[in-house]
Amino acid sequence: MVHYPHRHLLGIKGLTPPDIELLLDRADEAVKISRQREKKTTTLRGLTQINLFFEASTRTQSSFELAGKRLGADVMNMSVGNSSVKKGETLIDTAMTLNAMRPDVLVVRHSSAGAVALLAQKVSCSVINAGDGAHEHPTQALLDALTIRRIKGRLSGITVAICGDVLHSRVARSNILLLNTMGARVRVIAPATLLPSGIADMSVEVFRSMEEGLKGADVVMMLRLQRERMAGSFVPSVREYFHYYGLDADKLKHAKPDALVMHPGPMNRGVEIASDIADGPQSVIEQQVEMGVAVRMAVMETLLVSANQGERA
Ligand code: NCD
Repeated sequence: MVHYPHRHLLGIKGLTPPDIELLLDRADEAVKISRQREKKTTTLRGLTQINLFFEASTRTQSSFELAGKRLGADVMNMSVGNSSVKKGETLIDTAMTLNAMRPDVLVVRHSSAGAVALLAQKVSCSVINAGDGAHEHPTQALLDALTIRRIKGRLSGITVAICGDVLHSRVARSNILLLNTMGARVRVIAPATLLPSGIADMSVEVFRSMEEGLKGADVVMMLRLQRERMAGSFVPSVREYFHYYGLDADKLKHAKPDALVMHPGPMNRGVEIASDIADGPQSVIEQQVEMGVAVRMAVMETLLVSANQGERA
């Protein structure tokens, strides 16, 4: 088996091109398994996976659950409400309790950046970050990369425009890191109020206008307007936002004719993306969901099978 040197998947940061290629190649194999009538394998038989979600999730949690089941693991779901007080204490206490039950992998989502990495220091099993605040969401970036690679045949040299609420988006962050690592050209398109202050240091080209930023793009990656994370008014109104930044047929014409339209979900139809574009011929949003299960199978297999060979601490 090819060497994969990491015990956890806490972010895309720290992964090398060979690490990412290994995960994507394995995910291609997992797609084949998921398309068979018999989808269950014995790869993780006897191992226990706990999904610990401190923040609501539909597709990420269900796809981690299916991925574990297709690999033959025993999967338990724990959804913990986020108590605003003593968050740190609650997080570590919960982690230690679960750790005592001897899981082999913990899949964790939390609303605070860095919470999953902190937890990984305390437990004795592998930890996968399923989204921590506005920090990282590595399996989303991997499933997006898999979707692009399977259709376009490569990642290097591909121009990807990431549009919308970059400020609050862990999906954007992880995608920028992954795409840059793999030699893609990354653009971000957003109003100034929805760009993080450090964006200039992230090796991306920044655009304020969709028309300019989409010119010649191979992939248009839309982001959800994360209104639940907005304390003040970041956008004047949803209508105005759609006018300037919502993806509709007119704006999409500026991208390449065969450009892919992506969205991590959940979508706000009519806010960041027009319904007919979300359901249109260039949309690969459903493929992204399918690739999500495959990527999570690949990640768990890679972390846990190599871990059992005792290669790493
Ligand atoms: C994303 C998330 O939770 O970060 N959704 C997802 O994982 N499918 C994006 C979002 O919430 O907008």
